Amino acid sequence: MSVLGTLAGIIADSPLRDAAVHALGNVPGLPPLLQSLHILSIVVVICAFVVPQFKVMGIAAHRQLYPEMLDRLTPWGCWALVVLLLTGTVFIIARPYRYLGNPLVGIKFGFLAGALLLTWLLARRARQSAPLFTTAQRTVALLTVLSWFGVVFSARWIAYVDYLFWEG
Ligand code: HEM
Repeated sequence: MSVLGTLAGIIADSPLRDAAVHALGNVPGLPPLLQSLHILSIVVVICAFVVPQFKVMGIAAHRQLYPEMLDRLTPWGCWALVVLLLTGTVFIIARPYRYLGNPLVGIKFGFLAGALLLTWLLARRARQSAPLFTTAQRTVALLTVLSWFGVVFSARWIAYVDYLFWEG
């Protein structure tokens, strides 16, 4: 069995899963509330981590100072990531086989790891060279934007894989 399959089995047998299923089924409005918080946090993450890339690429925020932008936006992005982790994990714990067996979930977290790494690397490097950015930095900024869009796109597709591979 794969690592994710084993992990799904451990989660499925744990009392945490019963608690998550109970909460989602019995607390009125909890599923849409968590999903809405997830979506609102996506907006914050995109604003905090994608808009500075547009500045590096030279297509937006011309009057803003790059280091100042990073200082202002990064804490918002980090807190939104915490909310995403907490809200998303409840659903994964409640239905571990559905999510951990879904290839789009792996793709989403692959994109997320890449997006976070590129965002961090570029912020470190470009902060030093601002307000001038090299072509390499602009290229990395573009790749970072594409990685964040990859996270959103693959996550949105998680729900549709059930239909695509449904054999009934
Ligand atoms: C950090 C840990 C995260 C976890 C554990 C997580 C988990 C989840 C889960 C379980 C779903 C429900 C999928 C479904 O049933 O359709 C979901 C949806 C989604 N997530 Fe995340 N997620 C995380 C971070 C992110 C990030 C960083 C983004 C984008 C910046 C993101 C974007 C989305 C989108 C676009 C959806 C689909 C929302 C919808 O259409 O209702 N997630 N996530």
